[in-house]
Amino acid sequence: MTAKILDGKALAQRLRTDMRAQTSQMQASHGRAPGLAVILVGEDPASQIYVNNKKRACEEVGIISFSHALPASTSKEHLLGLIAELNRDAHVDGILVQLPLPDHIDPEQIIEAIDPAKDVDGFHPYNLGCLSARKPALRSCTPYGCMRLLEETGEDLHGKEAVVIGASNIVGRPMALELLLAGSTVTIAHRFTRDLAAHIQRADIVVAAAGKPGLVKGEWIRKGAIVIDVGIHRREDGSLCGDVEFDEAAKRAAWITPVPGGVGPMTICMLLANTLQAHNARF
Ligand code: GUN
Repeated sequence: MTAKILDGKALAQRLRTDMRAQTSQMQASHGRAPGLAVILVGEDPASQIYVNNKKRACEEVGIISFSHALPASTSKEHLLGLIAELNRDAHVDGILVQLPLPDHIDPEQIIEAIDPAKDVDGFHPYNLGCLSARKPALRSCTPYGCMRLLEETGEDLHGKEAVVIGASNIVGRPMALELLLAGSTVTIAHRFTRDLAAHIQRADIVVAAAGKPGLVKGEWIRKGAIVIDVGIHRREDGSLCGDVEFDEAAKRAAWITPVPGGVGPMTICMLLANTLQAHNARF
């Protein structure tokens, strides 16, 4: 079997085209376009690229982005003050604080300071709680994007055996909650899991978000499985790879996401979708 490709780049482009039309309507009926405040603290090159990609995507769909680039020496108090101001700002529908933050700032305290109604990353404990209570509000962007990709397969997720590898607050845990909400039987594998291969071998759906290149061996993939690879890593030769051995996995899977061009573009796309949702909720 050769897997069909779940093309996140193409799907994200289609969704952005739809969102462009939606923002024009919002501008007409609400008197202003949706607005997203983007905060970057420090000069981490990868974060600068991510933030620029997010701002460009906003522009493409007609979301106004308000940039706040702060030096690495910014105090926690200053950052909390800015967030309080943005929480009150009527032109700001969404607030994104790019992670990681410098070591002297506790990210949890910052995330919790964001008004949950403006938490377009879906990282606030209130929004994670809503998802776990089966009432999703603003959903974490990467898991939300993975669910949108799973929808593209046309498969009914009820009763499927799903294995999520990685238990982070921003991907693994909300991903497991999304799959549970969709009716799958969910296992979360993590650093203490004893026999990862055994879990993956019985999975109909594998979501790899461990952050380890090539951790998931292609031969572990069950025939006909759906494989979603959240990992993105740069090899020594400059090429990119995911957490899954793509070539071997693609011989066995029914569907697989490429790296790059799978989950990555969908994460940004769902950030835009969340910003439109947060905007609409205010009118
Ligand atoms: N750093 C890496 N990924 C993300 C993300 O999705 N959102 C934010 N705010 N920071 C990140």
